Amino acid sequence: MKHSIAGLFAGIGGLERGLARAGHETTLLCENDPAASAVLQRRFDIAHHDDVRSLKSLPKQTTLVVAGFPCQDLSQAGKTAGIEGARSGLVGEVVRLIEAQRTPYVLLENVPFMLQLSAGRAMDVIASAFEHLGYKWAYRVVDSRAFGLPQRRRRVYFLASLVDDPRTVLFADEAGEQAERGDFRSVACGFYWTEGIRGLGWAVDAIPTIKGGSALGIPSPPAIVLPDGTVGTPDLRDAERLQGFPIDWTKPAETVARRSSRWKLVGNAVSVRAAEWIGKRMAKPGEIGDFPTAPMTPAKSWPTAAWNVGGGRMRVEASEWPVQRTYQSLEGFLIHPLSPLSEKATAGFLSRAERGGLRFPPEFLRTLRNHLAGMRDTGPRSSRAA
Ligand SMILES: C[S@@+](CC[C@H](N)C(=O)[O-])C[C@H]1O[C@@H](n2cnc3c(N)ncnc32)[C@H](O)[C@@H]1O
Repeated sequence: MKHSIAGLFAGIGGLERGLARAGHETTLLCENDPAASAVLQRRFDIAHHDDVRSLKSLPKQTTLVVAGFPCQDLSQAGKTAGIEGARSGLVGEVVRLIEAQRTPYVLLENVPFMLQLSAGRAMDVIASAFEHLGYKWAYRVVDSRAFGLPQRRRRVYFLASLVDDPRTVLFADEAGEQAERGDFRSVACGFYWTEGIRGLGWAVDAIPTIKGGSALGIPSPPAIVLPDGTVGTPDLRDAERLQGFPIDWTKPAETVARRSSRWKLVGNAVSVRAAEWIGKRMAKPGEIGDFPTAPMTPAKSWPTAAWNVGGGRMRVEASEWPVQRTYQSLEGFLIHPLSPLSEKATAGFLSRAERGGLRFPPEFLRTLRNHLAGMRDTGPRSSRAA
C-alpha cells in the first residue's frame, strides 16, 4: 500500500525522505523553524505549514501521520493523567488532529529517554490516548547501526494503526546485535568530548549519536580518533551522510541562518535508512517474529519494545537490530578530513576523564595527551577547531 503522508515537526524531512524512498508520498509538511523550513522547501516541492498549533486539519487523503515531536514536550504530557495529559503540549497537537480525522496510521519517533520520562508516565499518556481512539500500537527502540551506518543512534519508533496489526511492520524482522567490531587502535572510535564526568559517549567503529546541540545552534559534534592517532571532529557533510542524507542536504538553511545551524538540524533528524526500513515494511508487511512477551507491570520506565494490539500492554524481548545491513566501517565511511579537536576541547575532556575515573582504554587517553601536546605546538591554528 502506498501512503499519503502528513509530516508534522518535519525538521529536515528524515522520516519523509526515508518513506519516499520506500514509495510513499508526503503531501503536507509542518515545521516552524526557519532554517529547517528552508531545507524542506528546497528539498520537497509540496505544501508547507509553519506552526502545528495553527494547523486546522490534515489533508483529507492522509493515510499516515508522522511526527518526531520535540522530546522536552513530553514532560508536560506526563504531568496530567489520561486524555487531558495527551492533549497538553505539542504531542497534544498530534492527538487533536487525529481526533478530528482518524488516519489509519500514525508513526511517532523520539529519543529513548521518552520511555523514562516522569517514571514512564509520559508514555502511558501517549499509549492511553491511542488506545482511547481505537488504535492498536507497537513500538521498538532501533539502532541506526542496524542499517549499516556507523552512528550509534537509538530511537523509539511507535506505530499505531486502526486497520492493521502494527507488529507486522516493526516486529517482522529480527537480526540481533552485531558482534564487537574490534577495539581501540584497530578501528576508528567516536567519543563525546563535551560529556560530563559521568557520561559515556564512546562508540567502537561508530560515532555516538549526533545531537541537536544547544538551542542557540552551537555545534557540538562528537569527536573521532583514528587508528593512526588523528583526533578530530567530522565534517558537517559527513555528518549528513551519517544520517543517511546526501551531501549538503541542509545547505539551503544557510539562506536564513548561519552554517553552524546545520549541525542542529542534522542532529535532530531521523536517520533516513531507519525510516526507509519502516516504509518498506509498511508497503509490504511481514510475518510477526517469535518474540518472548509478558504483560507489562508498573515499573520505573517502559521497556525498549512493547505493544498493545487488543490483548493488553505487553513488553517484548526484541533486539534493537531488526536487520543487519552491510556495515560501513567508520574510517572507510568518512570522505572528508577531520577538523583537529582543539586544545581547549581536548584538555577539558582529558581533565574530566582523568578526574571522573571514566573507564576509557589507557592507550586512548595516551593518544589524546599526544594530540594535546601536538595542538599546543601548533599554536593559534588550534583555535579554529572544535
Ligand atoms: C526532533 S525534530 C524532528 C526532526 C525530523 N523528524 C527530521 O527528520 O528532521 C522536532 C522538530 O519540531 C519542530 N517544531 C517544534 N515546535 C513546532 C511547532 N509548534 N510547529 C511546527 N514544528 C515545530 C522543531 O523546529 C524541530 O525541527
